[in-house]
Amino acid sequence: MRSRTERSRLTLFWGLMLGLSSCLRPATAEICGPSIDIGNDISEFRRLENCTVVEGYLQILLIGDKNNNNINLEFFRSLSFPKLTMVTDYLLLFRVSGLDSLSTLFPNLAVIRGRSLFYNYALVIFEMTSLKDIGLYNLRNITRGAIRIEKNPELCYLDSIDWSLILDAEFNNYIAGNKQSKECSDVCPGIMENNPQCRKTMFNNNYNYRCWNSNYCQKECQEKCLRRACTADGECCHPQCLGSCTVPGSDTACSACVHYYHQGRCVADCPPGTYKFEDWRCISAELCSKVHLPDFNSFIIHGGECMSECPHGYMQTTPNRLDQAGDRHSSLDWYQFHSPWRSTSRHRPKPGQATIKLKGPPAHFCGDEIYDKPLSEAKSRQQSSNTHRPPGIL
Ligand SMILES: *[C@@H]1O[C@H](CO)[C@@H](O)[C@H](O)[C@H]1NC(C)=O
Ligand SMILES: *[C@@H]1O[C@H](CO)[C@@H](O)[C@H](O)[C@H]1NC(C)=O
Repeated sequence: MRSRTERSRLTLFWGLMLGLSSCLRPATAEICGPSIDIGNDISEFRRLENCTVVEGYLQILLIGDKNNNNINLEFFRSLSFPKLTMVTDYLLLFRVSGLDSLSTLFPNLAVIRGRSLFYNYALVIFEMTSLKDIGLYNLRNITRGAIRIEKNPELCYLDSIDWSLILDAEFNNYIAGNKQSKECSDVCPGIMENNPQCRKTMFNNNYNYRCWNSNYCQKECQEKCLRRACTADGECCHPQCLGSCTVPGSDTACSACVHYYHQGRCVADCPPGTYKFEDWRCISAELCSKVHLPDFNSFIIHGGECMSECPHGYMQTTPNRLDQAGDRHSSLDWYQFHSPWRSTSRHRPKPGQATIKLKGPPAHFCGDEIYDKPLSEAKSRQQSSNTHRPPGIL
């Protein structure tokens, strides 16, 4: 056990740190990524401090051991990322000691899109030694993928969550090896006072009160919202909102979007001159040229989408440099009209020159605009994105 002064100093330190960062924060949504790995060292949590969206996955793993459980416990009680509302791939937690609930850490996480999954899972909670409840009380939609919650020896409040309100593929969920139901004394808000606050629903043949822990009910929107999201008070959001919203009926106040995000607004489709990126936002061609660095140094715009490579079954058209932007449209037109086949040459043939060799059968075209080498200044954005998966998990 740590002394009282030491504990309060720790709390003060993190309180100050978070308070300070909230004053300095810009008002606009900050997109973090590609993907975030937090591992080994608790100071790495700083990387999340301004994030509204994690584009890619969020992995938090291998933090602390049994010996420093108490210091971590104190640390996690005051650590909070209320700005974070969405993760576009998956959220994985593995062996983080001292974390007993996610309710303070991610109080406003509303949507996990599951664009890329960890195996088939969009939410993985595995071997979390101290976790007592999940507590993601604002989680409203896992758009794709299932959940895997396994080997968390202290974890309760699993029978009190109706996953069918959050995800469509709940039959693929895998929940096993956690604290036994009969050893848990789950009490939803109000039960003790004989004044139950939460709704009852039928899930897995259980007609139960639905809550995340003893403080938070699982929210459900009113019938009148139909399938639309709702605010914390149950008022209906704009139809383009997913998860929740801070102002009812406004497409600029959504915690996530059903379709695409563009300049602070949720839209049904990307407006002309913008391209879909990672299935959730609209970006300009200029941004598309930099966004895949440093992993890919070419990019493609295909079918209105910005991508790093052609999709499977498509062949790339001739590369075209952005620094020759002046004639790229004319060359593109020329190329599309004159050769629906792939050229073996890496260089753009001049109209009228017989430099195209036809190879193989006609293939699907990919690339309305393709650029070899993106803007040179963008090269300086050397970011190491560590995409290793934890060893031995699942
Ligand atoms: C968060 O924003 C503040 C203020 O703009 C900035 O000083 C800080 O470096 C940012 N943190 C991260 C991890 O980007
Ligand atoms: C989650 O959101 C998607 C996209 O709007 C929707 O198709 C799906 O039905 C939602 N799932 C649940 C359980 O509400």
